[in-house]
Amino acid sequence: MSPEPTRLLFVCLGNICRSPAAEGIFLHLLGREGLEPAFVVDSAGTGSWHAGQPADRRMRSAAERRGIHLPSRARQIEAADLQRFDHILTMDEDNLAAVRALVIPQGPQPQARITPLLQYGRRGSPLEVPDPYYGGPDGFDHVLDLLDDACQGLLAALRPSGSERR
Ligand code: 4NP
Repeated sequence: MSPEPTRLLFVCLGNICRSPAAEGIFLHLLGREGLEPAFVVDSAGTGSWHAGQPADRRMRSAAERRGIHLPSRARQIEAADLQRFDHILTMDEDNLAAVRALVIPQGPQPQARITPLLQYGRRGSPLEVPDPYYGGPDGFDHVLDLLDDACQGLLAALRPSGSERR
């Protein structure tokens, strides 16, 4: 019997730029190695304004230029996600604080480890993924570079034993 998949939730503010891009990049890395069955991958926003929407058109275009598809529809994170996922990966300090605020002080300990995604960065990355929403087109490519590096580090840290790349 195959082991339980590792469940990952990427989180940003709106769930239309950074976290859907991280989700799509991670899925792309899994697809390259046939590792999809080993993971469940999702994304969410701390805000609800864009619920139901696809990823921002500018982010989808920048990702498609790299051959990366962004399949997500925005949704807002909820307290139950802390128990549904093994890892919650946040993009900036605000997201980190918002996710931590969902932990009920006298309630159950979260199943999920809550970690800034860029802690897995391997190129001396900054600690926050900048929000590209109000910036110019270069911002989207910069975000994709940061996310690609960190997602590779994340996969290296979480890959099932016996699946090391040759
Ligand atoms: P995200 O970017 O958190 O990376 O999805 C944003 C998208 C929308 C807004 C802010 C950030 N907004 O204010 O609508």
